[in-house]
Amino acid sequence: MTVHFIGAGPGAPDLLTLRGRDIIASCAVCLYAGSLVPEALLAHCPEGATIVNTAPMDLDAIIAEIEAAHAAGHDVARLHSGDLSVWSAMGEQMRRLRALGIPVSVTPGVPAFAAAAAALGAELTLPGLAQSVVLTRTPGRASSMPEGETLANFAATGATLAIHLSVQNLSRVVSDLSPAYGPDCPVAVVYRASWPDQQIIRGTLADIGNRVGAGITRTTLILVGPALAGEGFDESCLYSVDYDRRYRPQSAGSPWQGWKED
Ligand SMILES: C[S@@+](CC[C@H](N)C(=O)[O-])C[C@H]1O[C@@H](n2cnc3c(N)ncnc32)[C@H](O)[C@@H]1O
Repeated sequence: MTVHFIGAGPGAPDLLTLRGRDIIASCAVCLYAGSLVPEALLAHCPEGATIVNTAPMDLDAIIAEIEAAHAAGHDVARLHSGDLSVWSAMGEQMRRLRALGIPVSVTPGVPAFAAAAAALGAELTLPGLAQSVVLTRTPGRASSMPEGETLANFAATGATLAIHLSVQNLSRVVSDLSPAYGPDCPVAVVYRASWPDQQIIRGTLADIGNRVGAGITRTTLILVGPALAGEGFDESCLYSVDYDRRYRPQSAGSPWQGWKED
């Protein structure tokens, strides 16, 4: 018996990986984080599967549910929104499961920041403007931030910031970022990327606070940084006509001439 952690993607049911879909179809038990995981994914469960929404449960109750499945010899599909590598609570579940000797597997999913960038049609790493993306958040009621992981510190790098779990702190985000990025820095707020009610609000640090309506209180990403402008950047060397590289040697003397992939 194995607990299969599966990234359920950002919302659109067809943004689930094929591997994730097949594992769901093979598990007699499915636990899903109902606050963000689309219910349409449950259609992949086999007939008669036990399906549990863990949104109202605490960690002890979730682990007890898994232990019961383990005792019955049933595989478990454990669905969390987006990808599992960020803000999924997979770490604490895995620690308990390892202590209990219950095997686990992990299948990645499409993270919300990637779905938001797709909705914007944006590359977040544009040459000459930004070559790093910082996935971060602001402190919440239940989570403080480690010292040093402040928006002001990240802003000092000039990277593109993908700020999660923070739309309720938008005015604080703006005031923390404005000194480093300046008031004209582009901002995109993406509400429920890939869901049917997705909304995109574009602006600058100076005006985004007035543009985002009071109805947008959760499931929203705030993307900030010069790359969001989508202009004023350099072309990459990758496709440059005279750039000598492995797949396109430019001369007989190129170190890549005659190179073959193993
Ligand atoms: C608990 S975190 C989950 C992150 C998830 N594991 C991922 O890989 O993206 C929830 C936060 O992710 C962001 N989020 C999740 N789904 C989203 C979506 N469809 N559109 C915009 N933001 C989303 C929001 O900032 C939300 O507050």
